[in-house]
Amino acid sequence: MPIHEIRHPLIRHKLGLMRRADLSTKNFREMAQEIASLLTYEASKDLPLEPATIDGWCGPLGVEKLAGKKVTVVPILRAGIGMLDGVLNLIPGAKVSAVGIARDEETLKAQTYLERLVGQLDQRLALIVDPMLATGGSMVATIDLLKKAGCRNIRALVLVAAPEGIRAVETAHPDVHIYTASIDSHLNEDGYIIPGLGDAGDRIFGTR
Ligand code: PRP
Ligand code: URA
Repeated sequence: MPIHEIRHPLIRHKLGLMRRADLSTKNFREMAQEIASLLTYEASKDLPLEPATIDGWCGPLGVEKLAGKKVTVVPILRAGIGMLDGVLNLIPGAKVSAVGIARDEETLKAQTYLERLVGQLDQRLALIVDPMLATGGSMVATIDLLKKAGCRNIRALVLVAAPEGIRAVETAHPDVHIYTASIDSHLNEDGYIIPGLGDAGDRIFGTR
């Protein structure tokens, strides 16, 4: 199954706090980054390693290091920025590919306004980050443009996923694994996830 709901106690606890309507912007931001780190840990469990020899305190020592080209993290602007540092805390050498997508509030269609991808995407793992997977339009559009640029190894990290969005990604891109802190109930008539977090971008940037 390409959907992974990570039901770790720390994630459950932090997500529960994020659902509080009275949580401050500061705390909401901090928890988004912390959960992003925990999801990164899960999503990176099978990264390939290669042997290396180092000078250890007692002489040459065989160790392991990450193999291949550096990972690229792909925050979907704006709200994806709220998870970026959480990923970079664990994978500090990662390159960042920024994608700007906004949902039209009337039609809920995803509109791309920025695309700044790193090179050699055909050799990199891409970790897309966005707090909310609602209709899936923004995620599918991001995966489309990454694949068009040659990327073949893509995973998505989202704080909350709606069943509708999961289905949309699974249908369009069945090879892409999604890691989420919670599969929520459904979308309301305005395309918001229920119970969800409200407007994640507004809560991260303090614009509500
Ligand atoms: C939100 C969210 C996702 C998108 C999810 O962004 O961060 O990118 O909506 O909805 P979808 O699955 O139906 O496409 P929004 O468009 O509100 O922009 P923002 O990041 O600038 O707040
Ligand atoms: N975008 C958000 O920020 N929240 C939702 O519930 C759906 C889309």
